[in-house]
Amino acid sequence: MKITIVGTGYVGLVTGACLAEIGNDVFCLDVDPRKIDVLNSGGVPIHEPGLKEIIDRSRAAGRLTFSTDVVASIAHGDVQFIAVGTPPSEDGSADLNYVLAAARDIGRHMNGFKIIVDKSTVPVGTAQHVRDTISQELGRRGMRQEFSVVSNPEFLKEGAAVDDFMRPDRIVIGSDSDEAGQRARDMMKRLYAPFNRNHDRTLHMDVRSAEFTKYAANAMLATRISFMNELANLADSVGADIEAVRRGIGSDPRIGYDFLYAGAGYGGSCFPKDVRALIQTGAEYGRTLRILDAVEAVNDAQKQVLIEKITHRFGEDLTGRSFAVWGLAFKPNTDDMREAPSRTLIAALLQRGASVKAYDPVAIDAARGAFALDLKDDPAAHSRLAFVKNQHDALPGADALLIVTEWKAFKSPDFTALKVALNAPIVFDGRNLYEPAVMADLGFEYHTIGRSLQHANRRAQLRIAQA
Ligand code: UDX
Repeated sequence: MKITIVGTGYVGLVTGACLAEIGNDVFCLDVDPRKIDVLNSGGVPIHEPGLKEIIDRSRAAGRLTFSTDVVASIAHGDVQFIAVGTPPSEDGSADLNYVLAAARDIGRHMNGFKIIVDKSTVPVGTAQHVRDTISQELGRRGMRQEFSVVSNPEFLKEGAAVDDFMRPDRIVIGSDSDEAGQRARDMMKRLYAPFNRNHDRTLHMDVRSAEFTKYAANAMLATRISFMNELANLADSVGADIEAVRRGIGSDPRIGYDFLYAGAGYGGSCFPKDVRALIQTGAEYGRTLRILDAVEAVNDAQKQVLIEKITHRFGEDLTGRSFAVWGLAFKPNTDDMREAPSRTLIAALLQRGASVKAYDPVAIDAARGAFALDLKDDPAAHSRLAFVKNQHDALPGADALLIVTEWKAFKSPDFTALKVALNAPIVFDGRNLYEPAVMADLGFEYHTIGRSLQHANRRAQLRIAQA
């Protein structure tokens, strides 16, 4: 099939590359000539496992084109995916300017029946806006051209996006019930058929429900995380182990084990933005989404939990203290720093006078940019932040190791070397990577999120104080 993807950001690029990989003829459009230049010279602007390989393959086979040519892009695809950004507006609602600009272009230049697919995460009712915008442009041209707008939200996880696209657990397609809608539905069904070999994962529904599904899914997942984080903090207070509790409740199939990991808070481009946008949609319809208000508040507080534990241990004033930080990206296998908990933690440490040596396997460049922005008004604090190229280089002279992202490389470190390098064997783990009992036996004072082995820790603290 001939496909156009408008927007070569994270979602657009993965969608385009994966659809080309299975044999479609894909044209990717972006207004940013620098991005297109990078892609045309063999680069990939984002870090996503497996993506470069499939892009290279399809480009070599002539099935994947990158261009800034709007007219050519609209002429190319029978199906036009809109995968542009929907950044949050000041009030938290999704900004639809880029989506509607893409719709305007399509209306201005389309000739022949087109299916327009909303792939960007957009609030309920956006397909109607897109439809109206295209009709308006066609009206200006005095044209009566049939088209149909489909909602096809993505459920890609960063770091596993190619795999998620190739092996989806569901494909949500929202289409209209009129004739053009049915035609669109059939074409979408054909387009996604190769991903449905073993059993059909396609869920057909009306457009509004499809739009809503995306927000509902992310809001539900964010709720699980905030709820577990709240339980973990309570577990710390009562002396229970949240990991045992997770297994205890996850064994109930109605609950399940996934997405119940307590930690330093959720980040990324989706959960924070989508939770806020859904709260905003509620407000537009006169509904307060009380649970989601709490989900957001709990997450904001959770990003402070590590700094609270650190100041509880070392005092509010951290002048002269030094900390090693492992993990900067908001989660492993990505270099994405958007809303990463490491940003809140490191800024708080620096502002209290501490020095920080930080390491991340892939996000250091992105982190440099993020902290330059976060600390632009506090050059003195900024000057106490250094990035190192190796996880062990962060340790020498540090008063404690802080773990913020659960990269695989952090899961089984050389604990003896760790102990020797640190000023004192103290670890604050925002991702619960190690067994508290084992850490206690190794002589570490080990602070976790909800795995409080208070007595073991107190013993370790005593040993460290006596040494
Ligand atoms: C998410 C959705 O999973 C995906 O379906 C949607 O399309 C986009 O948003 P993503 O943001 O890439 O994907 O990451 P995800 O793996 O879902 O993690 C989100 C955040 O939640 C991360 O900060 C992660 O550390 C945190 N998290 C996740 C937890 O704190 N605990 C968990 O148990 C799971």
